[in-house]
Amino acid sequence: MRVLVTRGAGFVSSHLCDALLAEGNEVLCVDNFLTGNRDNIAHLSHESRFELLEQDVCRAFDSGHVDYVFRFAAAPHPDFSDPQESGYGERARIGVQEWQKCVWWKLGAVQPWH
Ligand SMILES: NC(=O)c1ccc[n+]([C@@H]2O[C@H](COP(=O)([O-])OP(=O)(O)OC[C@H]3O[C@@H](n4cnc5c(N)ncnc54)[C@H](O)[C@@H]3O)[C@@H](O)[C@H]2O)c1
Repeated sequence: MRVLVTRGAGFVSSHLCDALLAEGNEVLCVDNFLTGNRDNIAHLSHESRFELLEQDVCRAFDSGHVDYVFRFAAAPHPDFSDPQESGYGERARIGVQEWQKCVWWKLGAVQPWH
């Protein structure tokens, strides 16, 4: 399976990437490193089944085909929001919208994870 993990380079989400790879999946990790640490995924740099897309999930992107989506929520604290753009809640809302577009318009049917 090819799995999209949004905000996937974070402290928590990077462990999910590890677990998904350990189960034999391919992982597309989308992260803009707003708060993430590249060290969280450094050990995956030579993993052929791991792909990093450096991208703000609040903006549209083309993930290609994926079978599952794990969507991590907004940045861990409002202070990390960019005051030049929109507020924390607004960015979270936009993120949800982009995620929904991925699910319903780009990816086709997404099944529940078992
Ligand atoms: N760490 C904890 O102990 C803990 C406990 C409870 C809940 N949480 C929640 O879990 C979530 C993740 O926490 P964490 O500690 O792993 O944080 P983290 O900062 O390590 O991970 C968040 C990731 O999201 C990325 N990101 C943020 N906004 C983005 C955007 N617009 N586009 C692309 N990437 C973006 C960051 O770069 C980062 O890699 C948060 O919502 C947090 O509140 C964390």
